Amino acid sequence: MSLEEVRNYINSVRRDFASKPLSKSDLNENPMEQFATWMEEAVNAQILDPYAMCLSTVNAAGKPSSRIVYWRDVADDGFVLYTNYNSRKGIEIAANPFVSLNFHWSEIDRQIRIEGSIKKVPVEMSDTYWATRPRESRIGAWASAQSSIVLSPNQLQLSVNELEEKYKNVDIPRPPHWGGYVVIPERLEFWQGRPSRLHDRFIYIKSGEGWTMEQLSP
Ligand SMILES: Cc1cc2nc3c(=O)[nH]c(=O)nc-3n(C[C@H](O)[C@H](O)[C@H](O)COP(=O)(O)O)c2cc1C
Repeated sequence: MSLEEVRNYINSVRRDFASKPLSKSDLNENPMEQFATWMEEAVNAQILDPYAMCLSTVNAAGKPSSRIVYWRDVADDGFVLYTNYNSRKGIEIAANPFVSLNFHWSEIDRQIRIEGSIKKVPVEMSDTYWATRPRESRIGAWASAQSSIVLSPNQLQLSVNELEEKYKNVDIPRPPHWGGYVVIPERLEFWQGRPSRLHDRFIYIKSGEGWTMEQLSP
């Protein structure tokens, strides 16, 4: 398709949402418990990669950027992900520790938006997760200077070959620049698609030790 044909196509399709209504009384007072319920339903609906989330960061100049990462664990009632601390996202997080996450499960007409602060997890937690990673992924973490420019087509493979040789028959340690972050939510929104664009939206906002919950207009 040409860009013009793509344009015509996206202008011609219109999907209505058919999910059941969602009301305040359906929702748990604790948003993380609510999140667990929705995640279970996403898993049961056999959504591919329901734990893939869009992570948005904002750099020192106030410019945002987004990418998909995997949600891997829970810590401090927050969402843990693993990455390269020297990557673009790592640099942006060092400059601005406020981020947002977005889970979108189109098959069940749901979106969850999360906003909060982000910090590195304790090194012991990164070590524990590192230990579960397959050998190839560990080599990959050492081989790739994530977000840096690739200078030659075989640069990555050469680096992998060297590392395979270096760590032949020995345990591969966790690189100091690789580890986890945890996003501690301050605000979460649960969105459920409804017919005629009259979607149901509920937000939780952190208030002291607890949470307040309100419905938002679609
Ligand atoms: C489904 C999916 C899952 C991903 N999971 C991760 C992840 O868990 N950690 C990660 O660093 N990158 C992950 N990526 C790659 C990121 O989207 C991104 O390309 C990379 O982290 C570099 O981003 P940055 O240059 O903004 O730092 C994933 C990509 C996709 C499409």
